[in-house]
Amino acid sequence: MCIQSGAWGIILKDESLFGKLLKRSVVFKSLKFRIFIIVLLVGVIPVSVMRSLLLRSYESRAVNQRITDITNQCNILCGRLFEAGFLDDTSDELINDELSLLSNLYDGRVLIIDDDFRIIKDTYEMSAGRTMVSKEVVAIFNGSSNMDRYDDENGYVEVTVPVTDASGTVHGAMVASGSTDYIRTNRDNLNHRAWIVEITVGIFVLVIAYALSSTLLLPFDKVKRAIGSAKEGYIAELKRVDVPDYTETGEIMDAFYQMLDQVREADEAREEFVANVSHELKTPLASMKVLSDSIRNEENVPVEMYREFMNDIADEVDRENQIITDLLKIVRLEKKTEKFEPEPADLDVLLSETVKMVEPLAKKRGIGLTYEKLQDVTADVDSLKLSQALLNIVENAVKYNKDFGWVKLTLDKDIQFAIITVSDSGIGIPEDSVARIFDRFYRADKSHSNEITGNGLGLAISRSTILLHKGSVRVESKEGEGSTFTVRIPLIYER
Ligand SMILES: Nc1ncnc2c1ncn2[C@@H]1O[C@H](COP(=O)(O)OP(=O)(O)OP(=O)(O)O)[C@@H](O)[C@H]1O
Ligand SMILES: [Mg+2]
Repeated sequence: MCIQSGAWGIILKDESLFGKLLKRSVVFKSLKFRIFIIVLLVGVIPVSVMRSLLLRSYESRAVNQRITDITNQCNILCGRLFEAGFLDDTSDELINDELSLLSNLYDGRVLIIDDDFRIIKDTYEMSAGRTMVSKEVVAIFNGSSNMDRYDDENGYVEVTVPVTDASGTVHGAMVASGSTDYIRTNRDNLNHRAWIVEITVGIFVLVIAYALSSTLLLPFDKVKRAIGSAKEGYIAELKRVDVPDYTETGEIMDAFYQMLDQVREADEAREEFVANVSHELKTPLASMKVLSDSIRNEENVPVEMYREFMNDIADEVDRENQIITDLLKIVRLEKKTEKFEPEPADLDVLLSETVKMVEPLAKKRGIGLTYEKLQDVTADVDSLKLSQALLNIVENAVKYNKDFGWVKLTLDKDIQFAIITVSDSGIGIPEDSVARIFDRFYRADKSHSNEITGNGLGLAISRSTILLHKGSVRVESKEGEGSTFTVRIPLIYER
């Protein structure tokens, strides 16, 4: 594989490495894995920290105890040593025995140093006569009461104490070392036991972590299965599966079924639309077929009849054409493929022209058509599209009116919107149809529909156009009394 990206030309040559990284990130993203790791860490880290703290505290307390013991012993011996004049003559057997005892007792070595920094006694008999100027010895001669150090690596403690006379004057120093091997051995034993405890706890926590991460996520598996079965099944037949184990899973399922309902509605609307389109397109064709058959099967048909039938056929062709044109218009509007360029326009001009176009139709039926501008209104609109949308609403107000009725148009605005109302004294819309009149092919009153021509597409186009302007259209109607359509168009079109 070789992916080259932009100017940097990042090249990923190693597919397996890329694949591995991707897979790993999927594992990291898994909630189950995260819960597992968190439980594991929460269980194991405290045990591990406690083990190391305990060991450290044991070690430091044991070392301090060892230093205190040796220091006490050395202090006692130093007093006796000075009184016995050991600094001048190291032959005193009793003192030598006690020094040997001390050195054996602590499994270490004792050195006595005089005020010339000369080692006058070494229980190992190795360094007698040599000079020793260690940091600790110098500190003792400078007045420190005692010095000690712990050599962890070699496993011993070393204590340096002064040899003083009764007045406290330092005449020499005693350096005693003691092995700390037993501390190390004890620490290792403890550590070993702590490890066993830690591993046992670790295994226990591991099992708990696995069980917990699996059981905690069981409801989510249920959610996954429910959604999975929805994916495979036929939407209309799906039964609701609730997962109320957690509030969250309940909410996810609620949201999912709400979305499913929307899909179901869209699916039904699509099916209905296809059925309507087929039906509506077939109707003019069926009429044409009847008309043409009736002339074809007749002999000696007079020319006038031919002409009349051909006119009817031409009307049906026009109707078919109109349906197809309207359908294409709706599709383009809804898919937003039509060019839409709103520009500031005087809506008074737009409405006056619309009224002029409908006037002849109104006049024919003695319907009084009035228009009133309540305020000057300029708004960002696509004049051609909006005037077509309003034309259909005004045309409907005349079409679905009683003879000698009235239609009233007003133009107004508020801070945000241009407000256009179209009221009529017409037949009104039955209550159960009001919500559907903007649906494609929907015609409210079937009895009137036969007398009044139309395809039921006008309002669908009007609504799509108004929505394209980010406006809204609302209708209030009372059967037998009339209807009022209110259109709101934003004064400023915000992209
Ligand atoms: N002002 C009105 N008064 C009463 N009914 C109305 C009014 N306007 C619309 N309707 C009802 O709503 C239906 C849909 O209107 P629409 O304009 O979409 O279709 P149409 O007028 O039947 O056909 P087309 O406009 O496509 O030629 C109409 O058939 C009618 O039943
Ligand atoms: Mg119409």
